[in-house]
Amino acid sequence: MTSRYHEVYAAWRADPEAFWVEAAREIDWFRPWDRVFDPDLGIYGRWFAGAECNTCHNCVDRHAARRPDEAAIIYDSPVTGTVRTITYGDLLGEVSALAAVLLDNGIGKGDRVILYMPMVPEAIVAMLACARIGAIHSVVFGGFAAHELATRIDDCRPKLIVSASCGIEPGRIVPYKPLLDGAIARAAHKPERCLILQRPEHGCELLPGRDLDYAQAVALARGRAVPCAALKATDPLYILYTSGTTGQPKGVVRDNGGHMVALKWSMAAIYAVDPGEVFWAASDVGWVVGHSYIVYAPLLHGCTTVLYEGKPVGTPDAGAFWRVIAEHRVAALFTAPTAFRAIKKEDPGGTHVRNHDLSGFRTLFLAGERADPDTIQWAERILGVPVVDHWWQTETAWAIAANPVGLGMLPVRYGSPTVAMPGYDVEVLSDAGEPVAPGTLGNIAVRLPLPPGCLPTLWNADQRFSDGYLSEFPGFYKTADAGFRDEDGYLFVMARTDDIINVAGHRLSTGAIEEVLASHPDVAECAVIGIADELKGQLPCGFVVLKSGKARNPAEIERECVGRVRAEIGPVAALKTVFVVDRLPKTRSGKILRATMRQIADGEKVRVPPTIDDPAILDEIRETMGRHGRPPSPPDD
Ligand code: COA
Ligand code: AMP
Repeated sequence: MTSRYHEVYAAWRADPEAFWVEAAREIDWFRPWDRVFDPDLGIYGRWFAGAECNTCHNCVDRHAARRPDEAAIIYDSPVTGTVRTITYGDLLGEVSALAAVLLDNGIGKGDRVILYMPMVPEAIVAMLACARIGAIHSVVFGGFAAHELATRIDDCRPKLIVSASCGIEPGRIVPYKPLLDGAIARAAHKPERCLILQRPEHGCELLPGRDLDYAQAVALARGRAVPCAALKATDPLYILYTSGTTGQPKGVVRDNGGHMVALKWSMAAIYAVDPGEVFWAASDVGWVVGHSYIVYAPLLHGCTTVLYEGKPVGTPDAGAFWRVIAEHRVAALFTAPTAFRAIKKEDPGGTHVRNHDLSGFRTLFLAGERADPDTIQWAERILGVPVVDHWWQTETAWAIAANPVGLGMLPVRYGSPTVAMPGYDVEVLSDAGEPVAPGTLGNIAVRLPLPPGCLPTLWNADQRFSDGYLSEFPGFYKTADAGFRDEDGYLFVMARTDDIINVAGHRLSTGAIEEVLASHPDVAECAVIGIADELKGQLPCGFVVLKSGKARNPAEIERECVGRVRAEIGPVAALKTVFVVDRLPKTRSGKILRATMRQIADGEKVRVPPTIDDPAILDEIRETMGRHGRPPSPPDD
């Protein structure tokens, strides 16, 4: 099939509003829009201004009305030994009941509800119940600890939190309640209610007067019909916090109307799946991939979505993904490259594939971090299906660049997520804001306005949104990714331009980790860098300088630092290495040379900035890392 991509992209460019009006026909609206795009609303304009709609109606009710017995969710949980199918009819019942519980507890339109949940169907039900009544959900990933949860509580000030008694990681139960209680104790804002799902694997005590038992509350509300609220297309559907350059996470805001239009369009055009087919995003509902492609897009499209509570390896083995694909007839899988690196490490020959019937499986999609060509080619070889790398961010909710399988695939260029999707006018800019020539590395930016689905602003932080994303290159959204475009328009996304690192597909701020290290009473100053890791892409690595007069055993302090980050940010930070050093390399103006330290750690050629204060410190860092088994870097430039 020849690709229609160029034709479709040209049609969007010729008339963006007509393009999105056509896509919007796939959505049920309660009231049509006054303007497709209103450039005078919000910070850079708003999509579908004046329209009224409801995301839950489009995800649940309209499918439940036509085909109530079709599967909406397949919950597959190797960690609890459960496989359960939830039909669209069942889902409507569960969502309505929970929506009734929320209303009974005083939650209404515009109120915030935090969801701190493991990968259980109730997490999806809670997202949809909020959407149904116009409450704004904010899901916090279960791998974050109390401090991170507290920051989010104080930023979005939820009236209610939905949580569970525990999460389950291979070989260990993660009790959520102490983390939840700890976060509420730390936060200045106190939610009025917590709705707690008791899991049989590990129960918890409920706090009288504040906590309600999820199952009991929902059982009492079962059978109650709660209509879908008529919301403005521009009303927020959710807030999703993501790492910024400081410890204060950024609340990415998503609207209702544009988000539905873009996600629905992507299911056919990019992922090439039909309603009724099974789509699986092996991620977590706490990340944007989970929001968009476990929950909203597949349900908007009337697909069956797989909710997988397990890992690519170890639950029970490196054949877990193939079992799920075969057992549930998955047509397309979306995951992060790190999952495939983990499988490749355990089963390099791909022998587990042979034990499963993958005949219904058509395409593998990868995103969340740079997909290394080795991993892509290995996946192609063992699976015998196209492997599509695509690039996007929490901020955008859907792909900025992809190989649009539904429009007909373009030839693959390894290392490139292919081309800009309709809606995105992508430019590569010099630091001075001028477009650079093909093949030249620069700042990847998107000309405003951003397409439907992308963030209109940050929660309660319009100025931070403008300053952080829109001010450096006027007229553009700064992606904070660096890369280049080749002569044919293929994009290559190489690295972040800020201090964000990507650990196993998870986005982390080195600044946030530094804040925790700096809070150790014996630490005078510190630096955290992301160093290359074969499995996780990057791993954080900390360097701390002790306050003078501190004669404690450095190894003990290193251990305490690691423990603090795990306790404060959470295990997902994956900080295992902290070095006590005498000094940190700096410029004469006192700026820590993190990039130079990373080059030393990764064994790259070290470019010593002319402004360095004392080059001898680089040798000290080299010596410290060498003692811990990092290869020596080549001589300095
Ligand atoms: N709740 C509590 N703890 C969690 C958690 C959760 N929801 N998710 C992860 N953790 C813990 C892990 O148990 C691990 O703890 P440990 O230090 O005690 O081993 C730690 O956080 C780091 O987790 P992770 O980086 O995910 O490493 P891992 O070794 O558990 O698994 C992979 C590695 C590659 C298998 C896993 O990261 C993976 O499947 N990633 C790809 C899919 C994905 O989630 N992508 C994200 C966006 S698309
Ligand atoms: P997140 O907001 O957590 O989805 O992380 C977004 C960041 O992950 C991007 O800004 C990129 O740095 C990185 N990223 C995501 N997908 C890709 C990809 N396909 N190729 C390269 N980098 C990617």
